[in-house]
Amino acid sequence: MLEAGKTKFHIDLRRYLREEGEEEALIHLICEIAEASKYIINSIRTGDLGVAGTSNLYGEQQLTLDVLSDRIMRKRLAQSGVVTNVASEEGREIVAVAPHRSGNYSVAYDPLDGSSLVDVNLAVGTIASIYLGADVLQPGIRQAAALYILYGPRTTLVYTTGKGVHEFGMNQLMEYTLLRRNVRMAPKATIYAPGGLRSRYTAGTTRLVNELEANGVKLRYSGGLVPDINQLLMKGSGIFFYPHLQGAAQGKLRLLFELNPMALLVEQAGGAASTGRGRVLEVVPEKLDEVRPFFCGCREDVTLAETFIAQEGRGEL
Ligand code: F6P
Ligand code: MN
Repeated sequence: MLEAGKTKFHIDLRRYLREEGEEEALIHLICEIAEASKYIINSIRTGDLGVAGTSNLYGEQQLTLDVLSDRIMRKRLAQSGVVTNVASEEGREIVAVAPHRSGNYSVAYDPLDGSSLVDVNLAVGTIASIYLGADVLQPGIRQAAALYILYGPRTTLVYTTGKGVHEFGMNQLMEYTLLRRNVRMAPKATIYAPGGLRSRYTAGTTRLVNELEANGVKLRYSGGLVPDINQLLMKGSGIFFYPHLQGAAQGKLRLLFELNPMALLVEQAGGAASTGRGRVLEVVPEKLDEVRPFFCGCREDVTLAETFIAQEGRGEL
């Protein structure tokens, strides 16, 4: 058995997953996503930073890098032999990647979250949410696994299969080796990462910000969901939010591609994730492009957000 926390042993991702007793098909799938990330990071480092001339499901302009990363992910997943359906934040529909073969899993993914930060050389990431079976339109609580890859000064992969949260780093051979097992979060935040325009915050969220600042909680926001969530997880403390806004009652972030995987990871580290009115992982999605307000991180602060939002009333928008 490995020791908790940081480790000096070089244990690669596949071996670790095996030692954790994961199912072979799931191990294969997670390792295929890890393989895809090697090509994505190469495109980030050397690829074209221009626009692709197309738009995604949310009407956002796609960059060449978005389209390329999406292709890399889709191809890997399709060829994995263990995936039936995929849905991409960059796509428009659920795609049957292996129509003649039925795989064990389906995957909702965001191939390159925060891609507009690449041209200013800030960190970005790939996010994946994995379900057993063919259905990706399920509450997040049913995820078999969730993971992200963070392309920062170093490349790291953080996953959960519901047995804690584990971090791996890419080494000089582009292999992922274990950095920390069982990442845990404290009950109370020492940093906060607030998304969205503060002038459009509603009373509950404004109260939350005032309370955090009054308690000396420091602002740490990069504008990339993956590095922002990774920071709270790896520091073991913090709260991220992209709230409901005046003019955007459901906020901006995507339930299937962003909230659910991050919510599972943060819950598995002992934190909490809420829409401000309830647990993210229990929201039943009806369509691919659903968005929701997101309050995610240390338990006590997420509860505080819910309390303030409830106290300021449902008519606050
Ligand atoms: O894809 C969503 C995203 O880019 C996240 O990475 C980030 O948290 C958020 O949008 C930032 O949004 P905004 O540009 O509105 O602050
Ligand atoms: Mn995204």
